[in-house]
Amino acid sequence: MRVLYKRLSLTRLRTLSSYCCRWGSSRSADPHVAIVGSGPAGFYTAQQIIKGHPTVRVDIYEKLPVPFGLVRFGVAPDHPEVKNCIHTFTQTAHRDRCSFIGNVQVGKDIKVADLQKAYTAVVLCHGSSNDRKLGIPGEDLPNVLSARSFVGWYNGLPEDVGLSVNLDCETAIVLGHGNVALDVARVLLTPIDILAKTDISDYSMDALSKSRIKKVVLVGRRGPLQVAFTIKELREMITLPKCRTVIDLLTLSSLNENIDGEETNTHTVTIENINELPRPRRRLTELLYNAAVNPPEKYTKIWNDATREWHLKFLRSPSEIVPTSSKEGPEAVKFIINMLEGDDDPLRRKAVPTDETDVIPCGLVLRSIGYKGVPLDETVPFDTSRGVIPNKKGRVDGFPGLYCSGWIAEGPVFVLAGAMNNAFATGKVVLEDLGSSKLSSENKGGKDAVLSALQQKGVKTVTFTDWEKIDQAEILLGEKAGKPREKIVSIKEMIRVASSE
Ligand SMILES: Cc1cc2nc3c(=O)[nH]c(=O)nc-3n(C[C@H](O)[C@H](O)[C@H](O)COP(=O)(O)OP(=O)(O)OC[C@H]3O[C@@H](n4cnc5c(N)ncnc54)[C@H](O)[C@@H]3O)c2cc1C
Ligand SMILES: NC(=O)c1ccc[n+]([C@@H]2O[C@H](COP(=O)([O-])OP(=O)(O)OC[C@H]3O[C@@H](n4cnc5c(N)ncnc54)[C@H](OP(=O)(O)O)[C@@H]3O)[C@@H](O)[C@H]2O)c1
Repeated sequence: MRVLYKRLSLTRLRTLSSYCCRWGSSRSADPHVAIVGSGPAGFYTAQQIIKGHPTVRVDIYEKLPVPFGLVRFGVAPDHPEVKNCIHTFTQTAHRDRCSFIGNVQVGKDIKVADLQKAYTAVVLCHGSSNDRKLGIPGEDLPNVLSARSFVGWYNGLPEDVGLSVNLDCETAIVLGHGNVALDVARVLLTPIDILAKTDISDYSMDALSKSRIKKVVLVGRRGPLQVAFTIKELREMITLPKCRTVIDLLTLSSLNENIDGEETNTHTVTIENINELPRPRRRLTELLYNAAVNPPEKYTKIWNDATREWHLKFLRSPSEIVPTSSKEGPEAVKFIINMLEGDDDPLRRKAVPTDETDVIPCGLVLRSIGYKGVPLDETVPFDTSRGVIPNKKGRVDGFPGLYCSGWIAEGPVFVLAGAMNNAFATGKVVLEDLGSSKLSSENKGGKDAVLSALQQKGVKTVTFTDWEKIDQAEILLGEKAGKPREKIVSIKEMIRVASSE
């Protein structure tokens, strides 16, 4: 002990003594916290709780044998820098008070109520694993796919490996104007030699290398001032090698909409009013406008060489996906043309249908209108219309000891930084409750109790060390193919590698 105290700095000693006062030495047992989901929300919540409590143990349960959620299975393969947060997550996983328990589907292998019996607190961070539907005829045709499944397919998500994607057509339509829409369009249009250097799954690389797609049309229901994608991602599309940008000029005249009310046509806003927009929105709108109307040479130089193109169309809601005569896929999408109405704030204007329609021919449709959360099991309250767990600052209403963070708490609305802030806020609330008398102080068994129940059910769990074996195997496979990694995409193979010596 004396040696230990010698090694501790004065600051750490002070922190430790403040911990002892705050958490009290009379607690009968160290608290155990279970986290469900090992995406950014799960790891950032774990980080915050471990940092803020001297003795808490945190166990992260994950459905798949591999960690990191959408950082591994969502973030586009050509955005490796975004995945750097994995280093921080790995540091958290290496803390001796943290365990990763993979290959456990909470809700199926173990109920949330059973976790609550074994843990002082349970934090649900299982993300949004479904997507929103349009509810229009033709949505279930072959080659009418959710962007979510398409993303899972190119990123090697086990459930999407077998997705039937037919790229033997010239035009794809992407419905939605968010960053996921730009991701899928970019993957469809990026030259194959660029994709070959990423960690994209090998079977999708193979399919993309044979793709005949030359044109991707991104269609949104509102106007250019309401797009949900961000400037960096738009610029990346505009400067994509060998690809021309075509922004629907007619509808871009909606930038000339007069918001001071003199103009009778509700489609139109004056460009000067851009100055009244918040800066990020103004810069994004200027980039859209310049690319459409007055593209600088640095853009046209790329576009002159183009063999492919992407189009951006506004103010169109899909009303039907028209099948080919044999019904083996889509032939076109029918749209109702909208106008914008309402709110003084242009960003909050609503699309309302006009009598006009449009038809765009295509052979592939990707629906990119947002992800949606699903409940883990019937024991957890759930708002099915929003796809979230109702909560106040991360506390689940009426369920002491139950918390949530990330997309399942707030909806699929933020990027990694937002997931981090939300997780830190929930972590803080958990720490507050651990420091009060709100939660039971008895030892409920934690991981030991759950692992023995899982073992009895024959569930083969995966530790973080096991994941590191999978990681190494993937990097080795990747080296052979000149890629950062070749993802193992079969759960059986993941478990085999995890179990190897
Ligand atoms: C296609 C796409 C690309 C994106 N690209 C970027 C980007 O470039 N930059 C950026 O900042 N943000 C990006 N984002 C947003 C970012 O990925 C999210 O903000 C973040 O991942 C949300 O974190 P989460 O932990 O709430 O959910 P998730 O990352 O989805 O993590 C949830 C975890 O819970 C697990 N899980 C689900 N059900 C269960 C269960 N029953 N039992 C146990 N575990 C379960 C899942 O397997 C998963 O590991 C992207 C999102 C998408 C969809
Ligand atoms: N590179 C990155 O940083 C990156 C990459 C991917 C994802 N992400 C993040 O992940 C989150 C989710 O992205 P997302 O693209 O899935 O969602 P999103 O940003 O919410 O965009 C959804 C798009 O779908 C449209 N839409 C919704 N319902 C519709 C309907 N019924 N009919 C027609 N259009 C409809 C929306 O239009 P309205 O505005 O009219 O509703 C919007 O254009 C976002 O925070 C995003 O920034 C980030």
